[in-house]
Amino acid sequence: KKKEFRQAEVNIGMVGHVDHGKTTLTRALTGIWTDTHSEEMRRGITIKIGFADAEMRKCPSCGRYSSSPVCPYCGHETEFERRVSFIDAPGHEALMTTMLAGASLMDGAVLVIAANEGIMPQTREHLMALQIVGNQNIVIALNKIELVDREKVIERYHEIKEFVKGTVAENAPIIPISALHGANVDVLLAAIEEFIPTPKHDLKKPPKMLILRSFDVNKPGTKPEKLVGGVIGGSIIQGKLKVGDEIEIRPGVPYEDHGRIKYEPITTEIVSLQAGGMFVEEAYPGGLVGVGTKLDPYLTKGDLMAGNVVGKPGQLPPVWDDLRLEVHLLERVVGTEEELKVEPIKRREVLLLNVGTARTMGLVTGLGKNEVELKLQIPICAEVGDRVAISRQVGSRWRLIGYGFIRE
Ligand code: GTP
Ligand code: MG
Ligand code: MG
Repeated sequence: KKKEFRQAEVNIGMVGHVDHGKTTLTRALTGIWTDTHSEEMRRGITIKIGFADAEMRKCPSCGRYSSSPVCPYCGHETEFERRVSFIDAPGHEALMTTMLAGASLMDGAVLVIAANEGIMPQTREHLMALQIVGNQNIVIALNKIELVDREKVIERYHEIKEFVKGTVAENAPIIPISALHGANVDVLLAAIEEFIPTPKHDLKKPPKMLILRSFDVNKPGTKPEKLVGGVIGGSIIQGKLKVGDEIEIRPGVPYEDHGRIKYEPITTEIVSLQAGGMFVEEAYPGGLVGVGTKLDPYLTKGDLMAGNVVGKPGQLPPVWDDLRLEVHLLERVVGTEEELKVEPIKRREVLLLNVGTARTMGLVTGLGKNEVELKLQIPICAEVGDRVAISRQVGSRWRLIGYGFIRE
């Protein structure tokens, strides 16, 4: 019989310090290796956000979880629970804004902590990022346990319990695993099923998709009449999209006006849709969605459209050139070894802002009590009340220093 295709219904992030085993764990859970770009393979680190979908299946006989139709533990036929999409984030400190873009799409996350190293700067920074984007559904994977002895595992467990106190991960289960050897991953899957529920998606709401990447899929030298339109990829966070839909993209395309760069929204039509790598007629929230359009592929090549928002014409949130934020600063810079104190925001300083999958620089033009006004380098499309992650250059890197909410 023909297998019916289902789109993933929940996005589960893989977050944590560099090399703690996020990509290896993604492969252990899905069979998919997400580090496919040449630079990722050469350097052995994740650079771009990777998506890997898998079925969650439960064995009615032994009760254990896997992604396989036949239980790997007892050989019984398994039952389908749901299809999930793992979002594999980079852990390198220089790629924090990429992690933040991914975090805006996560419904829940697995915080991976290697038992041999324990809590490291990006363990803290990624947990803070989850907190900032409002992610509350967290499972902790204590990885690489085969590298340490039993006493060390217990010591790490207590360190982590202490570390998560008072955070969104306070009640997160801590599951000891070895991603490399596939040990205990069924217990991790059971925890994911319990602690990371599928969010309620209202498909009647106007669609909203956050763009994470965009491409020109034409091979060099393709004849003009054979060229296909630009492709954009991201995750739908509300509503649904259909082939044939008219869509608008905001803030859109840059153009020059009297020596200044401005942005203009564009409208186009959806000519094809892919979800989880399959061509579909309709796409919903969950996993990576690829949208084939009639746009000039020149506009979409090399991730040029990343950070834009897709919706129905006239139904998207406003575009902001200037922002007023209600600001909450952290006490300490969490992503560094030394944990410096966060100094107050100063007039004329330039901050890095992440809103959804968009990132932009903001020049501070005004300061009030718990409030800051910024002039944006690239405008953003966002709702009043949306969360903004705020980073500041500390030494040679951008570090998370706080968050804000967009004010009218
Ligand atoms: P970034 O994406 O760059 O942050 O790294 P990552 O967290 O995705 O780590 P990755 O999966 O690339 O693994 C880093 C190294 O740790 C690789 O050499 C893996 O083989 C190794 N590794 C991952 N999991 C385990 C484990 O359970 N045990 C052992 N011994 N090594 C592991
Ligand atoms: Mg990785
Ligand atoms: Mg990757």
